[in-house]
Amino acid sequence: MSPVLQFDFHDGVNKGVSPVTYGQGDRPPRGDYARAHVDYTCDQQSDYTSAEHALYQRLFERQARQLDGRACDEFVRALALLGEPTHIPRFDQVSQRLRRATGWEIVAVPGLIPEEAFFSLLAERRFPVTDWIRKPEEFDYVVEPDVFHDLFGHVPLLFDPVFADYMQAYGAGGMKASRLDACEQLARLYWYTVEFGLINTPQGLRAYGAGILSSAGELRYSVESPAPARIGFDLQRLMRSRYKIDDYQANYFVIDSFQQLFDATAPDFTPVYEAVRQQLEIDAGTVLPGERTFAVSAPSIGG
Ligand SMILES: [Fe+2]
Repeated sequence: MSPVLQFDFHDGVNKGVSPVTYGQGDRPPRGDYARAHVDYTCDQQSDYTSAEHALYQRLFERQARQLDGRACDEFVRALALLGEPTHIPRFDQVSQRLRRATGWEIVAVPGLIPEEAFFSLLAERRFPVTDWIRKPEEFDYVVEPDVFHDLFGHVPLLFDPVFADYMQAYGAGGMKASRLDACEQLARLYWYTVEFGLINTPQGLRAYGAGILSSAGELRYSVESPAPARIGFDLQRLMRSRYKIDDYQANYFVIDSFQQLFDATAPDFTPVYEAVRQQLEIDAGTVLPGERTFAVSAPSIGG
């Protein structure tokens, strides 16, 4: 799930206006919004076909094979808590486990939802998960997040207490950013952490971002290719940084721990937004003089 949305949304109530994604305003969002309640959640569909369950399993198993040495340990440890990969899980069963671990739950949504609805769910420790699955011909890439991206990519880290708190704080911050006209800066924080974040570990760089972890090709690229820049996490720097939505990222930001991420983003962002507005934006892929960057080790022969 992603918050990069524009919307016509007032007073926390779904007025029946379909949400629209940034840069894609001429294309209606995919999903049946007639199913949505006022908060944009819906009941998880119960009529998945056996072909859809099989597609989920193929997606799951392809990604699971790539995780070793590339995904962070917290993600790998929690993956089994999604349930057997043989079928699309029932969200209420995943929620039972999540509630016990961190007090989070997942809720079904028909697709992308407006920013404020998204932020408000996160602030209540409810993560919106799209309930439809991509078509077989979209096996390698789907434009809008589907149930595989949202579940496989996002939900395992909600079992981590610190990351779970970060996500709730993000939601609360988002509700405030809407009032401060700072949604773009905050969307960049989400993009470069929740979707495309890397973490530095004693074993090397690892992915924790859902956009990477659910991608067939970007997981390997993000931690092994010498092409992209990998820059030490810096909140203001990150909020000045544009990003690419149509290709692998030209740069990633690297945290040292989830605690660092939580601590850096805990204070009130009002002065941060002000400072960011006084500075130039930075193109994706740019490394500024003196920045802390991370190199990747050369892949071993045969590896
Ligand atoms: Fe996402």
